[in-house]
Amino acid sequence: MSDFVRIAKTTDLSDPGQMLLEVEERIVVLFRVGGEFFCIDDVCTHDGGPLSEGRLDNHAIACPRHGAKFDIRTGKALTMPATVDTAAHEVKVEADDIFVRLREPGELAREQKTNVTAAKAVVAAAAPPKAEGPIEGAMNPMAAQASELTKQPVACGNLSEDLVREELKKVIDPELFINIVDLGLIYNVDLVPAGEDKTTCKIEMTMTSPMCPAGPQLIANSKQVLSQLPGVGNVEVKIVLDPPWTPDKMTQDARDQLGIF
Ligand code: FES
Repeated sequence: MSDFVRIAKTTDLSDPGQMLLEVEERIVVLFRVGGEFFCIDDVCTHDGGPLSEGRLDNHAIACPRHGAKFDIRTGKALTMPATVDTAAHEVKVEADDIFVRLREPGELAREQKTNVTAAKAVVAAAAPPKAEGPIEGAMNPMAAQASELTKQPVACGNLSEDLVREELKKVIDPELFINIVDLGLIYNVDLVPAGEDKTTCKIEMTMTSPMCPAGPQLIANSKQVLSQLPGVGNVEVKIVLDPPWTPDKMTQDARDQLGIF
């Protein structure tokens, strides 16, 4: 584990602001937001873009090359095309001096996991023994089944949500070469009877980033594959950016293909 190194004075940086620094032969970016300081590697994990040249928006820095965003507090990759976190370093301020202790990529996540495990162990040790019989607040089996039923995929005529999602797997993101369903881009599927045995297919789709250049192509391809399904009339694709897409919306298959564990 490296030691803390003094890297700057608090007055060196405006608020909000960012500054490129070299610390122990590592190029990092120091940020100041809301009176707090954060430090991450100056490396976008997508293709090495310089994060110090990106636009800062609250606690998110956008890579100037293809728009991937990272959380400056944790280094977490927030949007595509980045899928791997960048290293986030430990920062402390003493008087007017800012110190940084460098971490390796993934070290913060390991520290947080260890802390959570330790906290759970403390809570488990302090918890009273479990009571026999029904647990207060637990859903009874009938209610649980009813709740499951309300979550059933929608269906209309011979069409079903499952069939639509299966068909949408033919639409492949041109940058990541993974289908849009496994990427977690399909937020909602609605099937609405439209007369003459036709069904309107309404899709709510998100993008890996608001600036995603593949957006128009993904919309057009989705409309094309769905309109070929028997019984489908209109296909409406609505782009939804709230909640924003994050890499954890991907299926395990997609994560495996991208080498994320
Ligand atoms: S290099 Fe940063 S998004 Fe591509």
